[in-house]
Amino acid sequence: MTELMTQDPQRWLWAWGAMAFFVLTCLWSLWPRKKVVGSAEYLVLFASQTGQAEEIARHSYAQLEAGGRDAVVASLRDATADMLGAAKVILVVASTTGDGDAPDEGIGFERGLLRKTLDLANRRFAVLALGDRKYDRFCAFGHRVFAWLESNKAHPLMPCLEVDDLDAAALKQWDELLHSLGAGDAADEAVFAPWRLVSRERLNPEGDQPLYRLRLTADVLPDWQAGDLAEILTADGHRRDYSLASLPDEGHVELYVRTVEGGPGSMLLTQTLKVGDTVPLRVKAHRNFHAPDGDDPVLLIAAGSGLAGLRAHIRQATTPGWLVYGERHPVRDGALCAEAQSLPLKRLDLAFSQPDGGDGQYVQDVLAAHGAEVRAWLGGNGAVLVCGGLAMGQGVDAALRAILGEAWIEAAVAAGRYRKDLY
Ligand SMILES: Cc1cc2nc3c(=O)[nH]c(=O)nc-3n(C[C@H](O)[C@H](O)[C@H](O)COP(=O)(O)OP(=O)(O)OC[C@H]3O[C@@H](n4cnc5c(N)ncnc54)[C@H](O)[C@@H]3O)c2cc1C
Ligand SMILES: Cc1cc2nc3c(=O)[nH]c(=O)nc-3n(C[C@H](O)[C@H](O)[C@H](O)COP(=O)(O)O)c2cc1C
Repeated sequence: MTELMTQDPQRWLWAWGAMAFFVLTCLWSLWPRKKVVGSAEYLVLFASQTGQAEEIARHSYAQLEAGGRDAVVASLRDATADMLGAAKVILVVASTTGDGDAPDEGIGFERGLLRKTLDLANRRFAVLALGDRKYDRFCAFGHRVFAWLESNKAHPLMPCLEVDDLDAAALKQWDELLHSLGAGDAADEAVFAPWRLVSRERLNPEGDQPLYRLRLTADVLPDWQAGDLAEILTADGHRRDYSLASLPDEGHVELYVRTVEGGPGSMLLTQTLKVGDTVPLRVKAHRNFHAPDGDDPVLLIAAGSGLAGLRAHIRQATTPGWLVYGERHPVRDGALCAEAQSLPLKRLDLAFSQPDGGDGQYVQDVLAAHGAEVRAWLGGNGAVLVCGGLAMGQGVDAALRAILGEAWIEAAVAAGRYRKDLY
């Protein structure tokens, strides 16, 4: 037998070398390696302003888990190059806010990773872009994320999937994609209960744009905190958000709703629904508009129905804040000014844009006129809460940047000390 074996030392060297290589390779593959934090084969990322994208992303994750997939879900705020690199399939659910902008939790991603080049070859991806065709730059942020992933050589599972006003057909396509990836079924968390209209009062009988205070109640009152939303479901399936003006200790949900002619949500609440009727409603956490951490001074700014989102904050706060509130006319639209005056505040400034005799002022004009006091009030760590129409929010943002400087604003956004509830 031994005479059959080679005596050539060079051949023996090669054989031993090959054997050693094989053993080392086996050992290396068995060696426990450090897993990238938050990584999985299926990475579900979200960027959400009012919670819809987050809810869909979490549901998608639950479906993947139910199908036995190794999945993880995270905010784009926490996404890293390593997490993207470690995934085989990247699924992003991203809404667009402002004027084609990223939601607050996507801003850091857009300024950081999105400007870098990664090698994502061999990764597959899909983007569900939430938006609304009412806005000029439809689904703009979702498209930017899609273009970036594609430019980094990741392979799209489908073209960027646009969702207009939570369009059911587009959401069904997303669901089909998930099932093609092996997802199972998961319970839908968007459960609406019947809430009864207890009272409705027009706040501006002589004003141009009807504004109402509504009170609704349900058999079982859920818990919520300042900043949260009431979401209603209209007869034709539209979902609309309204800021909760009350806190649970008041025993009802209070809303301030302005009629938008032809709008399914506001027409249902302010016209169609009669006292005693019920509407499908759910109370929804809105973590981007929860109270900032700590006990530092708070500057609250709102106009019109935007007082809704701030009233609960003012009632919940332990230290009275400074409210700047705007309406059109002191008498014709003055009812919520009286409400503002009844709240526990350290300081209240009212702005009327259309008073008799001209010389109207918007809330941003009040801020600009009191710039030094705004700076002194907020100091380095104060917080700003803004609630109301998008145009008001943009005007206020420009005024605050001029008063406080870009660095203060950017630091406040990053630390959750500058929060907006705009619509
Ligand atoms: C976080 C959040 C909080 C909100 N809180 C409140 C609140 O406290 N009170 C409140 O009244 N609303 C609030 N809204 C707005 C509300 O959700 C609806 O968008 C609003 O009631 C209009 O819905 P709709 O179904 O009646 O009309 P839509 O179907 O949205 O609109 C119907 C038509 O009216 C136009 N339109 C829509 N809005 C306006 C407008 N403001 N002015 C003029 N034209 C318009 C649209 O372009 C469209 O053609 C909030 C929205 C968000 C996202
Ligand atoms: C203040 C505001 C600004 C918005 N701006 C845009 C926009 O520029 N483009 C767009 O397509 N949708 C826009 N939308 C619609 C949202 O993207 C859409 O309602 C989405 O479903 C919200 O998802 P989210 O709750 O995850 O943030 C805007 C919505 C709000 C309330």
